[in-house]
Amino acid sequence: MSDTLGIALVGCGTVGTGVARVLLAHAERIAQRAGRPLALRRIVVQNLNKPRDAIIPRELLSTDIAAAIHDPAVQVVVELIGGTGIAKTVVLEALTAGKHVVTANKALLADCGGEIFEAARQAERTVCFEAAVAGGVPIIRALGESLAANQVTAIQAILNGTSNFILTAMAERNLSYTAALAEAQQLGYAEADPTLDVDGSDAAHKLAILAQISFGVAAKPHEIARQGIETIDPMDIRFAHELGYTIKLLAEAWTSTRTPNGERGMRGGGLDTTLSNSGLHPAAPHRPTAEKAVALHVAPVLLRHTDLLAQVRGAYNAVLVYGDIVGETLYQGPGAGQMPTASSVVADLIDLAVGRAQRTFAAAKLWSREGRGFTVEPPERVRSRFYLRLLVADKPGVLADITRILADEQISISSLVQHEAAEDNGGPVPLVIVTHYAATGRFRRAIERINALRTVAAPAVFFSMGD
Ligand code: HSE
Repeated sequence: MSDTLGIALVGCGTVGTGVARVLLAHAERIAQRAGRPLALRRIVVQNLNKPRDAIIPRELLSTDIAAAIHDPAVQVVVELIGGTGIAKTVVLEALTAGKHVVTANKALLADCGGEIFEAARQAERTVCFEAAVAGGVPIIRALGESLAANQVTAIQAILNGTSNFILTAMAERNLSYTAALAEAQQLGYAEADPTLDVDGSDAAHKLAILAQISFGVAAKPHEIARQGIETIDPMDIRFAHELGYTIKLLAEAWTSTRTPNGERGMRGGGLDTTLSNSGLHPAAPHRPTAEKAVALHVAPVLLRHTDLLAQVRGAYNAVLVYGDIVGETLYQGPGAGQMPTASSVVADLIDLAVGRAQRTFAAAKLWSREGRGFTVEPPERVRSRFYLRLLVADKPGVLADITRILADEQISISSLVQHEAAEDNGGPVPLVIVTHYAATGRFRRAIERINALRTVAAPAVFFSMGD
């Protein structure tokens, strides 16, 4: 058929196989939704001899990327290689050759979004990337289309399924960190290098993309402060539970923008716009907070058991978005895995076939110079309550030294837990302190001083509290 949309898949691993499966098994349904047939014309792989799912038509397989990109019967190239090496060349060459691109590659967009989107505009072609953030959860469309009337004031999100799976397994099944990670890898949630999952990098890539759509800022992933889940001890999970909290790895965007009702969105903390230079971490730039400012970070956060995000379990992702008109909305679903990711890739292909994606892409002007006036602020300005776990000598004056340092930084203590130890113990014993709101910069400065105390046996472990 002449109006058929021809597709080349470049990369046929877990997600590529899923995309082929959906396109072939549901061709009629997809043609109906798209108003025209979608045809898989070529599948480019690295190794022709690798055993593959029976659904993959052998006659479509080849190792020739250029032939796929330049095939006149192909109008869309689906890049599913991953990473920022060959994948970048494929995307740029496909655009130059006049093809639209669909990609699930968050690292590529987060690192090279400016260059790729400019190339797309030059070529008058479209880049679709629903699958790049939160797998099967339609968060890109929600932010770019459904919430288009809003200014997003804050985002709080679980964006890495592997980390969420590990934390859930540690909390609910008492699994060790290592055993839980091995299980996540076996189930196919983790990246090829799982360090990117557990150190917060994968979530930072995804947050950079959400921040571009919501605030027009081009934050490089390495500029997004991150703390992973590797430092979380089972002891922290138990203490958090005792206090009524669940630990989640959250990607957060905080703005100084308030809703028309004067609300800050979540947590009541927001950005400390009055913070003096002395309250900031020494590395932070010395300047006042801009009127339209956003702070981005990825870190473990203690959420009350009753919070909606605390109840997102296993490899599921969830994104809580605060819009100045709509208020709070929540998007939740499978954030990793073959079919959820394929679901988003095929939705992009249908949108391209209909012609919707081309219009949305042109209007959104992503990664263009026309920003929305937001500046990226250091996370030191984020106000939060903190959970602080110390290993201290069980001796007179230890607690007094610690509380004096917190008082010096104007940080007030909300609660304190020390379990009774044997009389002749002497330490070290765990001590948990929960603070009232404090700017992150001030809190970190207090931690540096606490860590220097001779009675503190190990570096302090601390996380933000989500309320
Ligand atoms: N490795 C990612 C995760 C899935 O665990 O969420 C793909 O983004």
